Amino acid sequence: MTTSKKVLTIALPKGRIMKESVALFEAAGFDVPDLFGNTRKLIFENNDGSLRFMIVRGQDVPTYVEHGAADIGVAGKDVLVEQDRDLYEPLELGIGKCRMVVAEPKEVSVEDDPAKWTHITVATKFEKITKEYFSKRGIQVDMIKLYGSIELAPLLGLSERIVDLVETGETLKKNGLVEVDTIMEISSRLVCNRASLKTKSTEIRDLIKRLSSVVRGTVKEAVK
Ligand code: PRP
Repeated sequence: MTTSKKVLTIALPKGRIMKESVALFEAAGFDVPDLFGNTRKLIFENNDGSLRFMIVRGQDVPTYVEHGAADIGVAGKDVLVEQDRDLYEPLELGIGKCRMVVAEPKEVSVEDDPAKWTHITVATKFEKITKEYFSKRGIQVDMIKLYGSIELAPLLGLSERIVDLVETGETLKKNGLVEVDTIMEISSRLVCNRASLKTKSTEIRDLIKRLSSVVRGTVKEAVK
């Protein structure tokens, strides 16, 4: 008796991480459809019908995967920690590397000593991570929630400090800000729906194994 292969639905975050994810899937020998040609299309099936890719907002990947609308997804550690969803996280992909930092204007940092902070105001997209980080250090934090261009906040007097992602450091530099503390290192992870792991076990395990060998060949540290 032959069992037919089950289709895997994969949620990828649109943007730069999508390009890096596609490169990983291709390096692992998967047939990936052209996700970049048609900018309005959001679901793509590959030629042999084994994989279906959905293009979603990075913050929505965990939602699709947790609810089983996608079996698998690629999500940043920042999004995963912030949302704390019930997902299986089998593989660090070695892409989307950056860090979450506390930053402030250069002129403030000259006299500032983070060890003396007791009460600060911070603008950020990452409320949970920020709250936990400062509360562990006994620092009272007033948070101003923003959805993007966080670096503007100190320039316009909204808050003296920010918590945000830094990759090259260029955005901080261009806006006269400097890093004063690193909260965590970030990279993208493969996440799986827990039920799919049982119902599509063969396909998912094969995918993890194949991606894992590519990742192991390209980064020093792989699965944790
Ligand atoms: C991210 C992040 C920083 C910037 C860091 O923003 O929030 O603003 O990239 O990159 P860099 O260190 O290489 O300059 P993103 O482009 O995702 O847009 P956002 O402002 O909407 O968060």
